[in-house]
Amino acid sequence: MKRRSFLKNAAFLTGAAMAAPALKGCSFVDKSEPAPSVARDFHFRADGTFTVLQFTDTHYIVGDPRSQRALECVKEALESVKPDLVIHTGDIVFGRPDLDCAREILRPLAESGIPWAVALGNHDSQFGSSREAMFQAIRELPGCVNQSPKDGVYGCSNDVITLSGAKGVERVFYLFDSMDAVVLKGEDEIHCYDYIRHNQIAWYRAHSERFTSENKGQPVPSLAFFHIPLPELQEALDKGVQPLAGTNGEPSCPSRLNGGLFAQFRELGDVQAIVTGHDHDCDYVLPYGQLYFIYGRFSGGDTIYNHLGPQGYIPSDDHTAPGTVSGCRLFQFREGEPGFRTCVRLYGGEVQQTLNL
Ligand SMILES: [Fe+2]
Repeated sequence: MKRRSFLKNAAFLTGAAMAAPALKGCSFVDKSEPAPSVARDFHFRADGTFTVLQFTDTHYIVGDPRSQRALECVKEALESVKPDLVIHTGDIVFGRPDLDCAREILRPLAESGIPWAVALGNHDSQFGSSREAMFQAIRELPGCVNQSPKDGVYGCSNDVITLSGAKGVERVFYLFDSMDAVVLKGEDEIHCYDYIRHNQIAWYRAHSERFTSENKGQPVPSLAFFHIPLPELQEALDKGVQPLAGTNGEPSCPSRLNGGLFAQFRELGDVQAIVTGHDHDCDYVLPYGQLYFIYGRFSGGDTIYNHLGPQGYIPSDDHTAPGTVSGCRLFQFREGEPGFRTCVRLYGGEVQQTLNL
C-alpha cells in the first residue's frame, strides 16, 4: 500500500511543513467584515430537495498531466449533477505555485454559478503559502461562501452553513479546519496530525446550542465536514464495526491526540454524520455511537497514492494503481425529513452505495 512512507516523504518532510504554522493557528482576521452568526443560509428547491456534492483530496498540481484526471473529475461532476452546494474537504493542492494550483482546480466551481465552500486539508499549507494566504486566495474566488477566520478560533476554514425550509432551519453544516500537523512538547519532529482544538469546539457548541434553543429545545440535524478523521473512527473499526457500504482500503489515519469533538457531538446530539477525506483508499460509511463516519470519494489524479477502482480497492505496489476511478460523494436532503440520502458517484456517472440514513 505504501501509504505511510509516501505520506511522510510527501508532506512531513517538506520545509513548509516543518515550519508548522499549525502551532499557532490562523492569525489572519478580516476586521473589516463583521462576523455574522451564520455564514450562509440556503433553502430547499421548489421540489423540496437540496443536494450537496463533496469533493475531496484533489491534490492538484498546476501544469502536471497527472492532475488532468482531477480537473476532469470536478468538471464532469459539476456539469452532470448540478448540485445546490459543493463542499471540498481538503487537500486541494499538492504542489507549487500553490495558489495557482488552488485557483485552477477550483475554477470549475468558481465558473459554475454553484455556491461552494472548503474545509482545508493538511497539505493545503505545505507548498509555500501560509494557511491564511491560501484560505484568503480561495475566498476571493467567485461562489465561495467561506467566511473570514473567526477571531480566537483555531484554524481558518471553520464555518457554519444552514439549510432552511418553510418552518426555519432544518439542517446545519459545520465546517472545521483540522489543520496540518503539530510538534508535540518533548518531541523535536512532526509526528502528529493536528486535532480539533478546544476553542473550535467552543465555537461549535455556541452555534449548536443556539440552533437547539431556537428550535424549541430540539437539536437541529447537522453534518460536520472536515479533512482528517477523528480517532473514534479507528476505535469503531477496532471494535469490529462494519461499514454499511463502501471500501475500506487502508487504516484510518487520525491525529494521535483526541480533542474531544466526538464527545461533544454525542452530548449535543445534533450531528448525524462526520464527513471527511484524507484516507484516499476509503470511501465507506460506518455507523458508530448514534452517528455515521462517512468518507468522501477520492477526487484527485495520480499525483498521490490512490487505489480505488469501480469495484473497490485495487491491490498494487505502485502508489497509484492502474484502473482507479475518481469521483465524489452526494448528499440529498428533503424538506421536512430528518434523515438524508448519500451515495458515491464515480467519474462518468456510475452511482454506488446509495444509503438512506
Ligand atoms: Fe490527501
